Amino acid sequence: MNRQEVVTHIIGDRNISPRDKGVAFAPSNIALCKYWGKRDEELNLPVTSSLSISLKNYGAQTELQLSDEDRVVLNGKRVSPDDSFTQRAIRFLDLFRLDEQMRFTLTTQSNIPIAAGVASSAAGFAALVLALNDLFQWDLASKELSILARLGSGSACRSIYSGFVQWHAGCAKDGMDSYAEPLESVWSGLQVGLLTLSDRPKSIGSRAAMKRTVQTSVFYDIWTAKVKDDCAQLQNAIHQKDFERFGTLSESNALAMHATMLTACPPVLYWIPQTLETIHRIWALREQGVDVYFTMDAGPNIKLLYLKETEQTIVSSFQGVQRIAPFTPTDNTVNIEDVENLP
Ligand code: DP6
Repeated sequence: MNRQEVVTHIIGDRNISPRDKGVAFAPSNIALCKYWGKRDEELNLPVTSSLSISLKNYGAQTELQLSDEDRVVLNGKRVSPDDSFTQRAIRFLDLFRLDEQMRFTLTTQSNIPIAAGVASSAAGFAALVLALNDLFQWDLASKELSILARLGSGSACRSIYSGFVQWHAGCAKDGMDSYAEPLESVWSGLQVGLLTLSDRPKSIGSRAAMKRTVQTSVFYDIWTAKVKDDCAQLQNAIHQKDFERFGTLSESNALAMHATMLTACPPVLYWIPQTLETIHRIWALREQGVDVYFTMDAGPNIKLLYLKETEQTIVSSFQGVQRIAPFTPTDNTVNIEDVENLP
């Protein structure tokens, strides 16, 4: 099946006339056990399962309307049709047009600190799928929404949910068994700290780096075995609220992902001197008895993992850290002040 066939299979005969507009919010997410490698590039099917934490009210608020031409508006500004973000969104919308004439205006407010290396595409595609579901009144189940979001960007399938989320790799060729589901566990004291060490464009995008790793890293098979183990153990640590194990596993998984990049050919190295300096600072704090761990994605920035009781130490040790409490009850909408106050 290609992407269009998956969409047609899921939507079936649900396509009735759209309403005025569709509106939705989706949170961004950070993987604790990473998705790094595809078995199918067209459908974004992963080699392994993965596990993430959604970032509560940090994400994308999207509005979708029918219009006379395709338009993408991001944080109040129209994005050029040549922009890669616009092109990716429009190619995705192509999968859902009822006829050749149908055009959309996609308006997104994002309060994700993009510079901090938090994948904005995950929240963006998840919010877009939820907004399509609202516009066309499909009333799809979360599992189906997760599959549709995956077609936009793999990690977007996890952004359909809040809290801890597991993405089942699945094994079916058409990917109908590759979707995310929330874990029931709630960990109210858990905090995520975003550290922006660099906001310069990356030398290689994550999609290309992922592909190169699968094709050339001699560590890749070892990585897939480790992920299987890490995902299972992380679920236990979450269930038992064993923070030391949770932090150790998350950190080790992120470092192993970067090891696969280092052993790709040519190698991929996202780290900058400040990355290494920060890692040493985190380890020094741990030596002093402070429970803080980190995870990293395809970039030089660092995400801290700590508990509420450690917050004061974190704030005084890491200047400019942006604190997120994934389980604290908040209004699940994007606050425009947050958008304006982004670094
Ligand atoms: C390192 O989901 O952005 O953040 O499926 O090609 O769109 P595509 O990739 P994407 O990759 C995310 C990679 C990661 C790890 C993760 O989020 O699991």
